Amino acid sequence: MATVMDRRKKNKLTELHCHILPGIDDGAKHLENAVELLVEEKNQGVENIVFTPHFNFDKITVEQFVERRDKSLEKLKNTPEFQEVNINFKLGSEVYYTVNIATQNLDKLCFEGTDYILVELPTQVRPHGMKRTFGSMISKGYCPIIAHVERYSYMIENPVELYEFVDMGCLAHVNAETVIEKNKMAKYFIKHGLVHFISSDCHAMSWRPPNLESGFETLRDFVGKDYDEILNENAKRIFKGKSVDTYDLKKPVNLMGIWI
Ligand SMILES: [Fe+2]
Repeated sequence: MATVMDRRKKNKLTELHCHILPGIDDGAKHLENAVELLVEEKNQGVENIVFTPHFNFDKITVEQFVERRDKSLEKLKNTPEFQEVNINFKLGSEVYYTVNIATQNLDKLCFEGTDYILVELPTQVRPHGMKRTFGSMISKGYCPIIAHVERYSYMIENPVELYEFVDMGCLAHVNAETVIEKNKMAKYFIKHGLVHFISSDCHAMSWRPPNLESGFETLRDFVGKDYDEILNENAKRIFKGKSVDTYDLKKPVNLMGIWI
């Protein structure tokens, strides 16, 4: 029987959320930090990667962001290590949610060449009108991917909310770190078909490093071996701009205060 490592060699991983581009956000500060992260992604078995620096409509225009992102990528591309790792890559972003996000032109913020757009929500206070906003993004042809859903108190308290977003066409992910920590809610989300992939959301080698391989290894034992294949395949499909099979979506039920 093939081991995880054997299988992984044949079936490489896809990273859809990371802060590797240098000097653009709170991720890699300098070029050498970016190179370290990229090489570690390769060591983890990553073959496809979307670079997703933070973007906030309140802080910068899309044009300014795109210019900074291009320059940052150029620096990284000019390193010998970039050529050496030979990873397929795309540009993207992690857009901080704003109530008027759906009125903006989001094309340049999507994962390059796709309609997928990674959206980060406030962790504690639930924004008003999210359902309407996501609905309007979807009707304009975008597919919102809700970043690290295990962080939002209002989704942990009421996973039906996440279910409704997924049911209307949004996708979601949890961070690999949360799986490695054996977070029960992450397992619950995955088992209910409420998240579609895992990613490292790596920022630096010293905190939140690239850890997809360990994430998938834990996932096999902690959640179930089938999910390993499903979530990796989903990530690959998203990278290619293909639709994702929303597997086994189940509506969360609360029984005597416990989510089952
Ligand atoms: Fe992030």
